[in-house]
Amino acid sequence: MRKLRVLALVHKELLPPDNLPEGVDPATQPWRTEYDVVTTLRGAGHEVKTLGIGSDLGLVRVAIEEFKPHVAFNLLEEFHGEAIYDQNVVSYLELQRVPYTGCNPRGIMLARDKAISKKVLTYHRIRVPDFVVFPMKQRIARPRRLEFPLMVKSLVEESSFGIAQASLVRGDEALRERVLFVHEKIGTDAIVEQYIEGRELYVSLLGDRRLTVLPVWELLFTRMPEETARIATAKVKWDFKYQEKHGIRSERAQNLPPALEERIRQVGKRVYRSLMLSGYARIDLRLTDDEKIYVLEANPNPQLAYGEDFAESAHAAGISYAELLVRIIRMALRRRNVAAT
Ligand SMILES: Nc1ncnc2c1ncn2[C@@H]1O[C@H](COP(=O)(O)OP(=O)(O)O)[C@@H](O)[C@H]1O
Ligand SMILES: [Mg+2]
Repeated sequence: MRKLRVLALVHKELLPPDNLPEGVDPATQPWRTEYDVVTTLRGAGHEVKTLGIGSDLGLVRVAIEEFKPHVAFNLLEEFHGEAIYDQNVVSYLELQRVPYTGCNPRGIMLARDKAISKKVLTYHRIRVPDFVVFPMKQRIARPRRLEFPLMVKSLVEESSFGIAQASLVRGDEALRERVLFVHEKIGTDAIVEQYIEGRELYVSLLGDRRLTVLPVWELLFTRMPEETARIATAKVKWDFKYQEKHGIRSERAQNLPPALEERIRQVGKRVYRSLMLSGYARIDLRLTDDEKIYVLEANPNPQLAYGEDFAESAHAAGISYAELLVRIIRMALRRRNVAAT
């Protein structure tokens, strides 16, 4: 690939250092993804400018004018402190006609809203947990069709923000309390879903029209106490010590009969297309004992850190980290002249 000017868009508090301070392990830092992407692209000979963004789009415009990037590498997960605003930054890149990596704004919007996405998937006959939305400041009354246990989550937040053992509720009082927690502490509407007991599987995909489905990944809880629910809480995802203590790790899903693995891959593709995703995404699923596949959510622009699930499943498919980033950039350049992919 020819040498490119890459504008890496990152959150202003996640600017990676140009030179690693001594004794710092990047894998344990909050800016690990940003660091991995930037250093790998630089290592491949590209000129990378990192731009830290908080709430000022003007900075993006100036960087586009001055740096004249061939492509923007989008690592933003929020704008102005709002998770759902990242789609607007991508829309702005479209208006500026700058090719960008990852998902288009419409796909981000559809996938981010955990209710809209389930409505679209239901139309396409893809199995999702039954659910109800409790908007902020409105009455909290459980519809009778939804029986306990139930999962209470933010309608739009990501990365297990607000997900804890207390998110799994078994009675109306606990339900009410947790919905109020989401309203007041997370500051968003809440979605309450039927709890799906089962194996937790992730399918990662790469592509715009032609899709590459990466090997199915599984989150394992090997030393979790019996009474603790096997759900991917914030602690499970982000607390290294907790992971070690409870034997939490992820790896290629074992013991999936080939026909079942193929069904999971097909569900992954159908979700990706139904939600109009592009670039790369990870679909979170649950597989029940009787082999029903439920889609929990789709994650456009999932975490790209080296050694994390997406990169690891690419690795298992024979795609190195550097190749993965190149493929993501290639896609961006290929759709350069296509309005709204
Ligand atoms: N309906 C559900 N049934 C069972 N587990 C769930 C359900 N919803 C969420 N979870 C658990 O909570 C985790 C986080 O929920 P998810 O909807 O993926 O939110 P996030 O966007 O924060 O990743 C899931 O990975 C899963 O372990
Ligand atoms: Mg998830």
